[in-house]
Amino acid sequence: AMDSGVARVKIDDWEAYKVELQSRIGIDNRLMARVIARARRAPKRVVFAEADHPKILKAAQMVIDEGIGYPILLGNKARIEALVVENKLDLRDTPIIDPYHEADTRHEYAAMLFEKRKRKGITMVNARQLMYDRNYYGAMMVETGAADALISGLTNDYPKTILPALHILGVEEGINRVAGMYIISNAKGTYFFADTTVNLNPTAEELVEIVGLAARAVKYFDYEPKVAVLSYSNFGSSRGGVPEKTRKAVELAKKKYPDLIIDGELQANVALNAELLSEVYPFSSLNGHSANTLIFPDLASGNIAYKLLMELGGAEAIGPILVGMNKAVHVLQVGSSIREIFNMVAIAVIDAQSQSAKAQQ
Ligand code: ACO
Repeated sequence: AMDSGVARVKIDDWEAYKVELQSRIGIDNRLMARVIARARRAPKRVVFAEADHPKILKAAQMVIDEGIGYPILLGNKARIEALVVENKLDLRDTPIIDPYHEADTRHEYAAMLFEKRKRKGITMVNARQLMYDRNYYGAMMVETGAADALISGLTNDYPKTILPALHILGVEEGINRVAGMYIISNAKGTYFFADTTVNLNPTAEELVEIVGLAARAVKYFDYEPKVAVLSYSNFGSSRGGVPEKTRKAVELAKKKYPDLIIDGELQANVALNAELLSEVYPFSSLNGHSANTLIFPDLASGNIAYKLLMELGGAEAIGPILVGMNKAVHVLQVGSSIREIFNMVAIAVIDAQSQSAKAQQ
């Protein structure tokens, strides 16, 4: 479909350069290469709630060119078409849907939202108004099967973007708290961080749930999870507060996931330094490994840690990957680059693949 002969600029010379540079300084791009290959095997329909943004349109173009998905663009048609021309893109076969002009579908979706939330303070009038909002409309498309995955959040607060998804799509069976995970790659290796984006101050029990969701996702990316629950203390060296909570989480997680390699509570430098760990804490069940999956005691520490690594540490960060949702929905970090958006689409596609495999079971 893309062999149209339309002259098109190369999308991202700067980003291509950045990726090349990262591979030269030893950052692991194999993980994304594998994800993209998996996405390509069964591309999915991905709805972009913020399609009236040039970065989103350029990412959608990459999605088509790389054959990993079928974009659906939400927003004002004339505006999107003008941006497509202005940016010399070729999205002629890509559907554009403007909720403002879809009264029938909007009303149908509103009735479904009302049904879901009528005992949670919503009225039919509210529901009808909310369906003009592309985050609600897009989530409802995924809920009804009109799309397989939703990508949003480039231009709006994280809480405002995730709430419609929580209200409409909800959490997967048996899960109470969804969480956000980042993949951090630098010259030292590939690491998984959670929760970096959702739960302000999880309890020990909620941390156990985050451990389970993160470990499953790490396996899905073909890594063996070696989990450390982080604190500012090592194995009881401080009392109360975070040390107590994280220690309890480790205890509960070991019972709940007996096969998982997990330990804590640990300071970050010890968790990441196998030598130090075996020298000072030879009894640790991390057993001569350094951790690759870091669970943070609260949102402040997790969010600040990954952002510091992105800005100061020269790490490539892929995320935030929402884990525990009932359908494939991923909320972008505000200001994500085109490559970051593209990476999240690839992850959303393999997420949708696993969701549809689950549905068929
Ligand atoms: N997992 C699953 N369900 C949840 C979660 C969660 N983590 N949090 C809330 N919910 C559910 C609630 O149970 C509730 O269900 P119900 O209405 O059916 O009973 C529903 O979602 C809505 O709950 P509210 O009380 O309206 O929402 P709340 O005030 O709890 O807000 C939110 C949820 C938006 C996720 C909030 O916890 C939040 O703001 N988190 C921080 C987000 C943030 O600022 N992140 C940092 C920036 S992100 C970045 O840097 C990329």
